[in-house]
Amino acid sequence: MPETLAAPGLLAPAPRRAQYRDYQQAGIDRVREFYRNNHSQQTLRFVLEKKDRWLQFKQRSMTPWEGLDYLNTLIDESDPDINLPQISHLLQTAEAIRADGHPDWFVLTGFVHDLGKVLCLFGEPQWAVVGDTFPVGCRHSQRIVYPEFFAANPDSDDSRYNTELGIYSANCGLDQVHMSWGHDEYLYHLLKDYLPEPAQYMIRYHSFYAWHKEGQYRHLTDARDHANLPWVQKFNPYDLYSKNPNPPVLAELKPYYEDLLAKYLPATLKL
Ligand SMILES: [Fe+2]
Ligand SMILES: [Fe+2]
Repeated sequence: MPETLAAPGLLAPAPRRAQYRDYQQAGIDRVREFYRNNHSQQTLRFVLEKKDRWLQFKQRSMTPWEGLDYLNTLIDESDPDINLPQISHLLQTAEAIRADGHPDWFVLTGFVHDLGKVLCLFGEPQWAVVGDTFPVGCRHSQRIVYPEFFAANPDSDDSRYNTELGIYSANCGLDQVHMSWGHDEYLYHLLKDYLPEPAQYMIRYHSFYAWHKEGQYRHLTDARDHANLPWVQKFNPYDLYSKNPNPPVLAELKPYYEDLLAKYLPATLKL
């Protein structure tokens, strides 16, 4: 699901003009308020605290399938298609990848890529789970959506964090860079030992539009990031544009995806 919401114009499926205006205006307000919260509060310190809290994976244990079922109870406030269940978005993304003949680990990546949104169900506010991600600890790119809201972020006035490199060295590699906290980073750490490197990149950076779409932060990336960027870019259209007028039926596909989950992931995940 495109929790990136960069373009309010994309929020407009409604058939009648009056409805369209109301819906779009509501959407713009909702998205602006979301990013006002996100950009003003995602500081380096906040990110480090969240990593310390969540990367211990002590919340609960469940099978991958139970995790997906659990995720399905979430309504993503930052999502323009608010009525589409999470599992439907994941299934459509995965089925579009499968239909194009990609390897099964790529299909699996599509099927689980938003599983990290379970953080919302663990009590995290949505602005700390979804939305576009960006590096913290260095200057914010003006190509991040709603860059004006960074003025209220304390790191913007901190000389340690507001230079181009900030706390990082040139071309240190994204693995050394702290990203704003959200479902991408969380799920990457949860699954990184089970999936090939391109899949790890797709999961970890699928909301890092300033990099994979806008070409920013090249002063922080290294050769490994460069080699994996095409995979992140290959994944993005499936996440954004895989909506299907004849959506796949979960019950029919469940055996295939149960086998796929079992092939790559452990029987129980510690979330
Ligand atoms: Fe998604
Ligand atoms: Fe996502």
